[in-house]
Amino acid sequence: MSTHSWITLPLDATSRESLAASGLEYRGVEVGSAEFVPFIRAIARGFLDEDPTDEQVEGSRERVIDRRLTGVYDPRAADPAVPVATIDSWETPLSLPGRRTIPMWAISGVTVSPTRRRRGIATAMLEGELRTASAAGYAIAGLTVTEATIYGRFGFAPAVYSTDWSIDTRRARWIGPSGSGRLDAVDRERLLAELAAVHERVRSANPGDVAGWTGLWRRIAGLAPGGEQRKIRGVIHSDDDGTVRGVMAYSIKEGEHDFTRGELTVSLLVADGPDAYRALWRFALEHDLIATVHAPLRSTDEPLRWMIADQRGATVTTREHGWLRILDVPAVLAAREYSAPASLVLRVTDPLGFADGSWRLEVGSDGAAEVAPVADAAPEVTLSVQDLSAIVLGGVRVSTLAAAGRVQASASALRVLERSFASADTPFLSLWY
Ligand SMILES: CC(C)(COP(=O)(O)OP(=O)(O)OC[C@H]1O[C@@H](n2cnc3c(N)ncnc32)[C@H](O)[C@@H]1OP(=O)(O)O)[C@@H](O)C(=O)NCCC(=O)NCCS
Repeated sequence: MSTHSWITLPLDATSRESLAASGLEYRGVEVGSAEFVPFIRAIARGFLDEDPTDEQVEGSRERVIDRRLTGVYDPRAADPAVPVATIDSWETPLSLPGRRTIPMWAISGVTVSPTRRRRGIATAMLEGELRTASAAGYAIAGLTVTEATIYGRFGFAPAVYSTDWSIDTRRARWIGPSGSGRLDAVDRERLLAELAAVHERVRSANPGDVAGWTGLWRRIAGLAPGGEQRKIRGVIHSDDDGTVRGVMAYSIKEGEHDFTRGELTVSLLVADGPDAYRALWRFALEHDLIATVHAPLRSTDEPLRWMIADQRGATVTTREHGWLRILDVPAVLAAREYSAPASLVLRVTDPLGFADGSWRLEVGSDGAAEVAPVADAAPEVTLSVQDLSAIVLGGVRVSTLAAAGRVQASASALRVLERSFASADTPFLSLWY
């Protein structure tokens, strides 16, 4: 049984009382308890998935073993054992500019039964999570979203964008350099092990990335029950010393009427260095009988763009992906590295209170920041906790938010903040969590 400290944190009293006022019970759920199975079934219903098989429910134990599961129950419901709402949370390291990390309160599994929606249940659960995280000393919370309109009101904002690629292989045509090393096909067990190992090595270089977990690698490697898992294939790249530097999980759909028009979907490609990156992409783009390569959840700044003869052969769509919510301004701002000195007073507004205040940010020429509350200094930049959460990784420009009318600052203060917050590594979150 998991013994992580966050799992046993007490439930938020304010949310418990507000839910109780509507006749609802707010309860923790243990992975080993009888309440676990209906909890997982409620999550599937909330996300509009099929009712999971017993095997899938069992498989999900591993996915959530390290998480704090919370359900909302209605004793008057037709089946009171099934929660009317669910949420789960856990601690994970969030990568920050400068290859630093900070413990983040990750939130997932937010569902409210379609029969109980729009009654404030999600609000009680999310505010309860933020109060619990803050009281336990977490400086930042994060999530990835199915429904993007929900989370702004709780202070979350997109800080990492992702791109989905659809590549016409003949038109795009590979022109990248060749690298050293070799490629090998691997079975799904080996694929799982290499995905976990290579991602763990590279994630600190991607601001916004988080640690993976066994259940996730199992699903990506095609070893979780259900779905079309047997279609998943794996290939690894090893350097000249035999060290595995890159790994790709992919699947192929044969061309229905024309065998030369197959489609290859890259479910995850992780590379530790340029040789592995090039070799794996080239493998995908030059695969026989493949006319289209699909690659979801890639970075906004893929070198791949410059490794194809015709960039218009790739259709690239951009979407927000990693959402952050700062809870402790000094702790988060002091944790990252900066690109240029700055000395500014920031006024941060936060209706929920956690980040509200005026803060002096002093960034030295070494890229380290000191941040302290100030009582009486006039602010040079005024922004909401959402906007500060959006810019904190350097992936969203503060001048863009100012131009959108969200941030108030002089042109010179914006320039200083923007230069300082720029990140040498492009924010990139390679997972859904
Ligand atoms: C999204 C969901 C969790 C919202 O739960 P809920 O209990 O109905 O939310 P609340 O009643 O607390 O509503 C909070 C606010 O969000 C708004 N809201 C809720 N769902 C919304 C939606 N889908 N789109 C836009 N606004 C929404 C409400 O109007 C309310 O606004 P207000 O405070 O201005 O009145 C629920 O509808 C659900 O489970 N959906 C399916 C699963 C899902 O999408 N989960 C989100 C995963 S990222």
